Amino acid sequence: MAHARAEEVDGQIATWLGKICAGLDLDRSAIYERHAHERKIRYYKTWTRAGSPPFPASDDSVWDTEQLDAWLLAGKRLVYSRPSEIPAEFPDVRRFVGQYGPISSAILPMWAGGRVIGAASFGRFRSPRKWSPQLLQRLEFALRVFGSAIERKQAEAASRLAQEELALTQRRSIMAELIGSLAHELNQPLGAIMSNLGGLARLLSRVNTDRALALQAINNAMEDTKRASEIMRRVRSMFKGNQTQKIELDLGDLVNDVVRLVTREAVERDVAIHLDVQRLLPKVTGDHILLQQCILNLLMNALDACDGKSDHKRITIGVARENSDAIALTVSDNGPGIDQGVARRLFEPFVTTKANGMGLGLLVTRSIVEQHGGKISCESNPDGGATFSFTLPAANRKSHGSQSSRGRVKGGSR
Ligand SMILES: Nc1ncnc2c1ncn2[C@@H]1O[C@H](COP(=O)(O)OP(=O)(O)O)[C@@H](O)[C@H]1O
Ligand SMILES: [Mg+2]
Repeated sequence: MAHARAEEVDGQIATWLGKICAGLDLDRSAIYERHAHERKIRYYKTWTRAGSPPFPASDDSVWDTEQLDAWLLAGKRLVYSRPSEIPAEFPDVRRFVGQYGPISSAILPMWAGGRVIGAASFGRFRSPRKWSPQLLQRLEFALRVFGSAIERKQAEAASRLAQEELALTQRRSIMAELIGSLAHELNQPLGAIMSNLGGLARLLSRVNTDRALALQAINNAMEDTKRASEIMRRVRSMFKGNQTQKIELDLGDLVNDVVRLVTREAVERDVAIHLDVQRLLPKVTGDHILLQQCILNLLMNALDACDGKSDHKRITIGVARENSDAIALTVSDNGPGIDQGVARRLFEPFVTTKANGMGLGLLVTRSIVEQHGGKISCESNPDGGATFSFTLPAANRKSHGSQSSRGRVKGGSR
């Protein structure tokens, strides 16, 4: 259980609830989970002995569990050997037990670290049973193992969410880039249509035909053209940087966030990621999602590059002072290096050497970096592989000296 992967946690919990019940001769046990910061707990997993009496489903509002939830979330137990021992202050529990059982039960908080993240109940329907302090302690210990597994599972769900958020921003950045160039491209022909039609209108106005009709058609076309370019203008302004939120950020923290997101992928692809982040660097100013996106793009490219190698696949991410005004981030891999055929065009749209590549990652990354006042560059490493780096202006340009003696990563695996 302690080593279960996130997707195995549910199955493991069901198995172990069954084993605990069998070992203690119980009939039913259940785990309840606290959702985020709610003051309520909800049914999560259960084990029931075959032939046990029917029990109401968790979402049947048989009784108002608010009082018991609050009690458990405060870290307190509710334990009774027989129904007469249920404290009078829990009349709802008494009523419920009178109707459905169990005759004897231990309902315990489930801790993870210093927090209560849920609860568990262990019950017997057939006869009373004693719950010694030692047994309760052991059950709570088992619940801690459950709790940390559940927490691990939840952390993974949260990281998946962050990943989806990044993917969404990526799509938006790509769209912004595409629509930006679309608007730019379209405005020129639209302008030409306008002036051509204008000329035609003047010309026709000198000829003695159905001028009114011709003019009407031309005017309509002009109106449509204007409207089209107005739509373009609006679409473009929608995607301009005005929705980005610029705050002071620690580039090293951003790197850690992104590396955490791709750790699983790197392990699956057998790539070792090394960090070389100078400490106490000045912050940079920017939008954290967009800058994470940049780091992610370079890191994914480096992972892709490593696919072309059979072993010793290695990526080094460095964050260091570039000069007194700028911080540099470097992603260096020991893959095959930059393909000479595309080396000059890497930052152009749709340039890719990958079967499933879009050829937009570097374009988007450059656009974001430049939007933040930085520069992006790349080079081949002398001993193989490639290094992509970008710099960003330091937020507070004249203060802070770097405290680290570890040098800037300059390409190559170390
Ligand atoms: N770390 C790297 N090593 C070698 N080539 C790279 C690296 N990063 C990017 N490239 C080259 O740049 C191209 C464009 O990258 P990108 O714009 O991210 O698009 P995509 O990843 O979809 O191909 C890649 O197809 C690849 O040829
Ligand atoms: Mg890419």
